[in-house]
Amino acid sequence: MEDPIYQFARRIREASRISVLTGAGVSSASGVPTFRGEEGLWKSYSPQELATPEAFERNPKLVWEWYDWRRGLISGCRPNAAHDVLSLWSKRYPEFTLITQNVDGLHEKAGTENVIRFHGSIWEVFCRDRCRSSPERWVDETVPLEKIPPSCPYCGGLIRPAVVWFGEGIDNDVLAKSTAALDCDIFMTVGTAAVVYPAAGLVDAAHQRGAFTVEINLEATSASGAVDLSIQGPAEDILQKVEDLLSQNTDT
Ligand code: APR
Repeated sequence: MEDPIYQFARRIREASRISVLTGAGVSSASGVPTFRGEEGLWKSYSPQELATPEAFERNPKLVWEWYDWRRGLISGCRPNAAHDVLSLWSKRYPEFTLITQNVDGLHEKAGTENVIRFHGSIWEVFCRDRCRSSPERWVDETVPLEKIPPSCPYCGGLIRPAVVWFGEGIDNDVLAKSTAALDCDIFMTVGTAAVVYPAAGLVDAAHQRGAFTVEINLEATSASGAVDLSIQGPAEDILQKVEDLLSQNTDT
């Protein structure tokens, strides 16, 4: 049987439209904690208390303290080989789309083109009341925040992180762009537990539209059984190996 890494490289070589969905596992080697698993954030913190609109209404200070801590942590992290290889591919393949559930901004930091931030960005904020004088959202990279919870500079009310919390919908524009990316030759899902919808449904949807689907993850997930090729191992190693094969230009 063909080595899965060779098969993956061959498929990429033959593809012209490449789409990728990434999750927290891609940033793990950079030092950004994942959400699930033994070391995951949801082991020590409750999503209901920190990542829902209701939690923010109840206790904006607590929610902002958690985001301020994460922003501080992420600000010290650099992209790893997984981000770098995906960035390279985003420039090499003209029809390349990267949909990320990560809010850390590391794909952008690696210079990746055509990134769709499915769950928003931890580096953007918006007015909780969507006051009339404020923009829809804006960049705020202050670390640490001067005041918690921070105030809206336009109305004096509260601002909140521009991330998608549990119970919130995905932006229509983001959904439309992600749906367009399902029409591709190869769709890979990398470093995601594949349990949070609608992101978790994208790989199946791409498969139904005829894409060859690949999963890269440290372990089997709920998506593993349904993809065409499941490769287990660290994304930073596997993507680097595939890129080495592609750049050697050998017959894979
Ligand atoms: N290489 C590949 N996979 C890895 C690596 C690695 N180096 N390290 C961890 N993983 C895998 C884990 O096995 C796990 O399946 O990454 C996955 C991370 O899963 P989660 O922590 O659940 O992250 P994700 O799937 O991105 O979460 C989705 O849930 O809490 C929400 O909004 C949050 O965007 C997040 C969403």
